[in-house]
Amino acid sequence: MSRQTSLTQYLVEQQREHGHIPQELRLLIEVVARACKRIAIAVNKGALGDVLGTAGSENVQGEVQKKLDIIANEVLIEANEWGGHLAAMASEEMDGIYVVPNRYPQGEYLLLFDPLDGSSNIDVNVSIGTIFSVLRKVGHSRGVSEDDFLQPGKQQAAAGYCVYGPQSMLVLTVGDGVAVFTLDRETGSWVLTQDQVKIPEDTKEFAINMSNMRHWAPPVKRYIDECLAGSTGPRGKDFNMRWVASMVADVHRILTRGGVFMYPWDQREPEKPGKLRLMYEANPMAFIVEQAGGAATNGTERIMALNPTKLHERVAVVLGSKNEVERFTAYHLEAAQK
Ligand code: AHG
Ligand code: MN
Ligand code: MN
Repeated sequence: MSRQTSLTQYLVEQQREHGHIPQELRLLIEVVARACKRIAIAVNKGALGDVLGTAGSENVQGEVQKKLDIIANEVLIEANEWGGHLAAMASEEMDGIYVVPNRYPQGEYLLLFDPLDGSSNIDVNVSIGTIFSVLRKVGHSRGVSEDDFLQPGKQQAAAGYCVYGPQSMLVLTVGDGVAVFTLDRETGSWVLTQDQVKIPEDTKEFAINMSNMRHWAPPVKRYIDECLAGSTGPRGKDFNMRWVASMVADVHRILTRGGVFMYPWDQREPEKPGKLRLMYEANPMAFIVEQAGGAATNGTERIMALNPTKLHERVAVVLGSKNEVERFTAYHLEAAQK
């Protein structure tokens, strides 16, 4: 039998080689991975575990919460609050930050998560996931506040996602490439199945919700029109389109075989910069994609360089194969110069 590398062994060996995974960060990642395993088990039970359907409540962004949104949020909080590795947590499903209760020791890390990404796919048995981002509490101020979280994505200590699909997979970066772990359901362990993942720089596949086409800005329309024109158009090649409507699943496909994912600003709600959230969707995915050799922008600026002004800030997102993201950005710059 070939020897397998567990998540713990991977983290210990990374620390030995590169020295950037202190014990508290390793504990944090292991605890998040364990929580994701519990969420995977709940997802797999479906109707048998009474986890499908809506919870009858709304989150701070005015979205109807599904039962699994709430279950996943609780699993992540319960798993992470007592270990002493965190100062506070923030989530798509909570209005404000969750400070680690006084009865537990406080650590130096901050954890942000989208506990259940792709909620519209829960009840139709399509891949969903969990996205997380880890920051360090900087400065020596006592206590912790929302301001401590408002750091640009380039300061992330780690980021990852778990995709609950035909297989449950954990994708992780601690700033030294991207590793993929597959959940062995029999042994219950996360086993390393791919290391140093690389996104091809070119692609013939794009992901966008085409039903919003009439609301797009001209550079987005131009980019997609040129893809759709295929081999006889300016791009000189035919493109394929995929849209799962779970960011984790779309990003996972791009990580596996290349592609470009777009959720741009559009005119439906012009005051909103985009639909996706900067702190717990765009930043962690941007970190992973960049670490795999891809790029991530809001159309004009690198996502990870943006300075957040609030916890639930939204942002336009374009990420994936480097040359396509650069082309998309160039169209925006050209449009701005006109
Ligand atoms: P969430 O379920 O956490 O609210 O996120 C859903 C997001 C993202 O996963 C996906 O890419 C996008 O919403 C899909 O949006 P549309 O339904 O507008 O296509
Ligand atoms: Mn989401
Ligand atoms: Mn969500």
